[in-house]
Amino acid sequence: MADIQSYVGNQEAFPVLKNWDFFNHAGVAPLPRAVTDALRKFADEAERGAYLETTWYKDIEKLRIASAAMLNAHRDEIAFIKNTSEGISIVANGIDWQPGDQIVTTAVEYPANIYPWMELERSRGCKLVMVAETSDAEGRRSVPLDAILARAAEPATRMVTLSHVEFASGQRHDIKTIGRFCREHGKLFCVDAIQTLGVLPMDVKEMCIDYLSADGHKWLLGPEGAGIFYIRRELIEKTRPPLIGWMNVVDALNYGTYNYTLRPDAGRYECGSYNVPGLLGLKAAVEMLTVLGAQAILARMKALTDRLIDGLSAKGYQIISPREDDAWSGIVSFASTKHDHSLIVSTLRKEHRIEIVLREGRLRASPHFYNTEEQIDRLIAALP
Ligand SMILES: Cc1ncc(COP(=O)(O)O)c(C=O)c1O
Repeated sequence: MADIQSYVGNQEAFPVLKNWDFFNHAGVAPLPRAVTDALRKFADEAERGAYLETTWYKDIEKLRIASAAMLNAHRDEIAFIKNTSEGISIVANGIDWQPGDQIVTTAVEYPANIYPWMELERSRGCKLVMVAETSDAEGRRSVPLDAILARAAEPATRMVTLSHVEFASGQRHDIKTIGRFCREHGKLFCVDAIQTLGVLPMDVKEMCIDYLSADGHKWLLGPEGAGIFYIRRELIEKTRPPLIGWMNVVDALNYGTYNYTLRPDAGRYECGSYNVPGLLGLKAAVEMLTVLGAQAILARMKALTDRLIDGLSAKGYQIISPREDDAWSGIVSFASTKHDHSLIVSTLRKEHRIEIVLREGRLRASPHFYNTEEQIDRLIAALP
């Protein structure tokens, strides 16, 4: 059985290691060899005829079971989506909103979790509440838990919708506390988990999550455009699929019967043919991550990001990401008071083949478990 160390710095398994010190897994991850092998296999098989001699559709079912296991959910609670936005839009458009219903989120969400709710303000008279981020004396930025819970408690609030990990600051919200609060107070709870899956453990039952959405192209190490949607079983009948096609129904393969009865499981949110190559690629990635184990990946990520933060602090950079308790994540946001951030990013890329990015005016590095300590040290050394 493979362990993490056998992947660290392994150029065969992670070809990107040959050319780059890549630290933007919170953006779009380079694909591991296991995933590109799955894509090549798909391409070979596709030339010979899609459904004739392949196991594609059985493999997609295996992915559904593996995805459910990763979330501590049931396969009936998992649908495949084309991206995070689609999953959030299914939630936003599937519920019987009433005018005045309030939706609580933060003011620092990725727009995938803002615009679907703004559309509800426009079309259904709902209200979107965005809780502000604050900064502590050291410049660490986070959205306070108390402020989220206070807005969640308001009688008009029907849903809280949050990224588990905020894309710019890297703050990991205490979603277990928020989820339990929502469950106890009869509020719905929706989570954008794209900055979580593949790098931090996720348990939808323990965290009382009602809906979860994540594309596979970041920490999950899958191709873009193939993602996972979770819906708590009890909510399936109450959440209408906004997109309807031939596949949402119980008897989809009996084409001519026109039996418009929605599936009783999360398959009712899948309206037509799958992104087969994307899902086969995602399957290879999920299987690799499952073998390594969420706890082992978590421990490796803590060690790598701690090393990075120690080095950055020693060089005088300000750390923006919260690090206390469980508020840390794979995202390290940092800032310089002396040097131009855009110039830093472009110089690292052009002169050092080191990839970090600019987010909300700050520098953001997001290593994954297979990055080496030497790579982290090279990044620190290359920074002005
Ligand atoms: C928190 C968050 N949500 C969603 C996305 C991407 O959304 P989608 O999967 O719809 O492209 C990103 C990408 O950066 C993100 O950081």
